[in-house]
Amino acid sequence: MSIRVTQDGRLFHLQTKDSTYQMYADEKNILLHTYYGKKIGEENLADTIFFADVGFSGFPQEAQGDRTYSLDCLPQELPSSGVGDYRDGCIWLRHADGSMAADFRYAGYEIRHGAYRIPGMPALFDNEEESCETLVITMKEAASDVTVLLYYGVFERENVITRALRVENRGKTEVVLGECLSCCLDFQFGEYDLITFNGRHAMERMPERSRVGRMKLEVGSMRGTSSHQHNPAVILCETQATEDFGDCYGLCFVYSGNFIASAQMDQRGQTRVRMGIHPNQFSFCLKPGEAFDAPQVILSFSDGGLTKLSGQYHKILREHMCRGKYRRERRPVLINNWEATYFDFDEEKLLKIARQAAELGIEMLVLDDGWFGRREDDNSGLGDWIVNEKKLGGSLGSLAKKIHDMGMKFGLWFEPEMISEDSDLYRAHPDWAMQIPGRQPNRGRNQLVLDMGREDVREYLLERMTDILSHAPIDYVKWDANRSLCDIYSHVNRESGEVYHRYMLGVYDLLERLLERFPDILLEGCSGGGGRFDAAMLYYSPQIWCSDNTDAINRLSIQYGTSFFYPVSAVGAHVSAVPNHQTGRATSFRTRGHVALSGSFGYELDLNQVTEEEKETVKEQIREFHKYYELTHEGTYYRLSGPEGRFCAWEFVDEEKAHALLTLVMVSAEGNPLPVHTAVKGLDPAVRYRCSYNGAVHSGSGWMNGGLTLRNVPAEYESLLVEWEAVKE
Ligand code: GLA
Repeated sequence: MSIRVTQDGRLFHLQTKDSTYQMYADEKNILLHTYYGKKIGEENLADTIFFADVGFSGFPQEAQGDRTYSLDCLPQELPSSGVGDYRDGCIWLRHADGSMAADFRYAGYEIRHGAYRIPGMPALFDNEEESCETLVITMKEAASDVTVLLYYGVFERENVITRALRVENRGKTEVVLGECLSCCLDFQFGEYDLITFNGRHAMERMPERSRVGRMKLEVGSMRGTSSHQHNPAVILCETQATEDFGDCYGLCFVYSGNFIASAQMDQRGQTRVRMGIHPNQFSFCLKPGEAFDAPQVILSFSDGGLTKLSGQYHKILREHMCRGKYRRERRPVLINNWEATYFDFDEEKLLKIARQAAELGIEMLVLDDGWFGRREDDNSGLGDWIVNEKKLGGSLGSLAKKIHDMGMKFGLWFEPEMISEDSDLYRAHPDWAMQIPGRQPNRGRNQLVLDMGREDVREYLLERMTDILSHAPIDYVKWDANRSLCDIYSHVNRESGEVYHRYMLGVYDLLERLLERFPDILLEGCSGGGGRFDAAMLYYSPQIWCSDNTDAINRLSIQYGTSFFYPVSAVGAHVSAVPNHQTGRATSFRTRGHVALSGSFGYELDLNQVTEEEKETVKEQIREFHKYYELTHEGTYYRLSGPEGRFCAWEFVDEEKAHALLTLVMVSAEGNPLPVHTAVKGLDPAVRYRCSYNGAVHSGSGWMNGGLTLRNVPAEYESLLVEWEAVKE
């Protein structure tokens, strides 16, 4: 049993393999957060709380004049708002009388088998062996009939604890929820860094590490998508923590819309970390009997550094978030026509690309943007999901059949959430697009955003997509979303504070219904590359196009940052042409392949344009992809160096520690070079391994302590793969 509660129903232990999360409902029914960290026994740690007079803070009625008992300093599971805790809280309520306060007390608990579900939203699920237990804690306001249910899911083996909450209006008057974050974590002691993952279009998820102090650290998105600019996953770690050492806490938000994540020290040096839906332009009206569900946060703790933390996230997301046939099944090596043709294609061009790709062993052709409506560039056509048979020289079914006849699968691009003003759909339904009456809307990529919160919009999209997907043999869908939201307004829901969230619920609803109808289709998420690369999208699409930037050297940084939370199996990565279309840089075909092999692998160029030697390299790369698939897609991942040094290296080790694969890419070169020496990790110290680079056999301990020195320093942008095999003696 991973959830233990004392007989009096007041002390809660959530036990995972290596961690403990402890809460204590004290005699005043404040639910105290007493511990989260390395696994401990079941003793009450509430005595670690420091009580001393806190000047100028408030003291609740229950303190009965005790000036050391203030909500302003106590570590709490659900902080109050407006009644004496001056730190950032989680929930703001506006009551019928206009007052604003939220002040919850412990009122009971329940333990359930299995993982909890969240209505209309993704969440980690249980596998067949029921690997999760759920604790539901009830928190009540004394002065209103609003109840909060706190959800804790304990995935014991995976070292993961999930949190979510539900606000219920059980009263007779309306209440407005002005802010509703999913998770607050209080740390009484310790000095921490916060690692966030930030960037921009084509340069996503660059890690940034900052010391948590009195000045608040905060990242978030107000763009309606989780965004290129900040990823909804952060790490709080001891200031000395490294890849292999130190306490690290991950917070990963299972949500694809606006979010906030913050960390700040209070007056006593305690650290509060929060995560949830961004309060900007958020308010939800709860009529009597209504409830609001806040999305899930996946917490994980590692007492052994960042590598271990990442491994825990890779495993839980692969096994308990990704669904469907492709959770386990090998993903096809694909070729996408986007960078090969952009909008300028016809049937003959596509077939030529496919024929050459099939010959070299590529397994799927993906037809990207431009196959529908009147879409010759990105100024028109979105929303008109009708096949442009003139451009394709026939039906989509006939094209897909020709591709299938070559022994390949066929995939198709959609951008369901968007609408061009120059489209039949817009002409028929201008009110389906998000824009504020009386104001000119902002265009992004010259398109508007559909009001996905509307049932009729979703019905239309489902009907159109179902029609297309059932009239042609389509194995894969790339689901794109190429702009941020603004001009928030819905003709069917005038509560504009609800529109961002209802938009996300609408997207999830459509994805769910589409997958119900076509369960075997492989979905690849995309949002101008990696603008919506988050745990929630993995529930629908087990792979996500990682970035529109396909430059192998920039990809080192992008994939490095992505690896802190997301498994390699989720990372769409392609070999594209040089000079690279985003950076103008030339790298060798081999290097481009080596970088893309650490992802859901594919190509994005016309292979008729490459040399014979490069064609041979394609065959070799596909062999390598298949050979190393288990390692790259299911093995343990080690970041051996960051991308900012002379070289970037990373490694995969299989579960049995019998086989390891290291990739090294030279990032910069210099004259009279110093040696390239890389760490080797994850082997069994007692087992002997042969290294493919130099044929040397050493013990795992030898390799891990001695590392690997290259005989020759590779030239700039050159790369190599090195394998270790356990030697059978
Ligand atoms: C986005 C995607 C690209 C491509 C284009 C098509 O930018 O990230 O991969 O699909 O849209 O318009």
